[in-house]
Amino acid sequence: MDGTARAGKQGRTHGRGGTGRARRSKRAGPPAPSGTAIGCGDDGISSSSTARPGADDVSLQKPKEVEVVVDSVTITDNRNGQTIEIPIVDGGVSAEEWSKLLPGIWFYDPAFMATACAESSITFIDGDRGILEYRGYPIQQLTEQSTYLEVAYLLLYGELPTAEQLDGWVQEITYHTFIHESMRKRFLEGFHYDAHPMGILVSAIAALSTYYPDAKNIFDPDVRHKQIIRLIAKMPTLAAAAHRYSVGMPFVYPDNSHDFPSNFLSMVLKTPESRFEADPVLVKAMDALFILHADHEQNCSTAALRVVASSQVDPYSACAAACAALYGPLHGGANEAVIRMLTEIGCLENVPDFVRSVNEGHGRLQGFGHRVYKNYDPRAKIIRDIAYEVFEVTGKNPLLDIALRLEEVALADEYFTSRKLYPNVDFYSGLIYQAMGFPVEMFPVLFAVPRVAGWVAHWVEMLEHNTKIARPRQLYVGHRRRDYVPMSSR
Ligand code: CMC
Repeated sequence: MDGTARAGKQGRTHGRGGTGRARRSKRAGPPAPSGTAIGCGDDGISSSSTARPGADDVSLQKPKEVEVVVDSVTITDNRNGQTIEIPIVDGGVSAEEWSKLLPGIWFYDPAFMATACAESSITFIDGDRGILEYRGYPIQQLTEQSTYLEVAYLLLYGELPTAEQLDGWVQEITYHTFIHESMRKRFLEGFHYDAHPMGILVSAIAALSTYYPDAKNIFDPDVRHKQIIRLIAKMPTLAAAAHRYSVGMPFVYPDNSHDFPSNFLSMVLKTPESRFEADPVLVKAMDALFILHADHEQNCSTAALRVVASSQVDPYSACAAACAALYGPLHGGANEAVIRMLTEIGCLENVPDFVRSVNEGHGRLQGFGHRVYKNYDPRAKIIRDIAYEVFEVTGKNPLLDIALRLEEVALADEYFTSRKLYPNVDFYSGLIYQAMGFPVEMFPVLFAVPRVAGWVAHWVEMLEHNTKIARPRQLYVGHRRRDYVPMSSR
């Protein structure tokens, strides 16, 4: 955002009927006739898209420089009649301005249902229209034409790399794939034999901070760059190690003669062969899935990253927190839940009954619904197509037919349509992972490997914006002061 837009966020406090003005936003439509401010009654909030020249308005003398008020809200404190007009900039109103009028009155929004926690230029989502773009590039084009490492560069630096930049970037990542031997021997092998790979991954990312104490110098751009490279490069190695350990297989070292997705598949799937060559269709599918999962603006894990990183902790600790958020069944754990659900449904005939039971309030249809998408998740569509390509190689996952039928029945059901619940990214991805031979416990891990690119992109953006420490307020509803009651009197 440019400086003009930032300045435009300042609101003005004034008495009832005051003359606060904002410059007309570039996006605003034509102004409404003068003097038609729209109030919205008792809630004390009104929105205005109206020219309202005040007595002091120089525009009356100089018509060509008319200042019009558009895209703003006027808030009235009904206790004292004070009002403030706050411009709507980039789809938001500044809470700082709101607080000038209403100090000590907080928005109550525990799940950030209506709160923007950042200004960001990384990922754009239009949830109503099912649009997803990284730095303005449609996800469909990136999935078809790009690679995960190129997309990671795009997310971080804002532009697609030149051939030379991409070469340098890939080279750097490729030569940071190894993890410290003691990390493998003493740390990873210290887990219980059946530890969940996502639990191992969360801990391993946090442990990296102890190997790279220089990472604390987060304001040094060179140090920052090095940690970004390390995180993107080592995630596949850690993820594969977590998997191999949890299934009792020996660790496979990175083979840096492979490209990024092939190297990952080699570390996960290699058995006795000296060099593992994954099927090119599966390599392409893996890379496409990495692209699709690389970022998704202020999702739960990225929001967690921003909150934790706002304390200026090192990026490994912040990414470990983000990864922990991704572990949850409502976030990165949902694709695992989808496979369990499809397995439980068992056959096509059981689909209508299952949908009916969800409709009646018994559980959720896993892989359906999204906080932002009120339309088909564009990633789900792409993944469904990839699934067919993968099944050409692996043979069809028998759960696919149940998934397709489930989608069909749910999308014809008023419960789902009225709530705008459509398949999300997790609905079909698990079917692919399963067909590729990954156990369900690995699904959130597969989500985390590429999402680190999004996490570090948001980390850098946040530092560049000099974001203050995240510190929400609360509405206290507990007891007020009371005297301690001795045990004998309780
Ligand atoms: N099955 C049945 N009902 C649902 C579902 C679902 N999957 N999702 C939402 N609803 C209903 C919910 O019961 C509520 O109904 P009512 O208005 O009658 O109370 C309404 O739809 C709104 O749901 P919500 O829980 O207020 O919506 P939310 O924005 O808080 O939750 C969600 C979004 C993704 C957590 C939720 O849709 C869900 O639990 N889905 C299943 C889990 C899932 O697939 N998660 C992966 C999300 S995509 C990957 C990612 O970003 O991590």
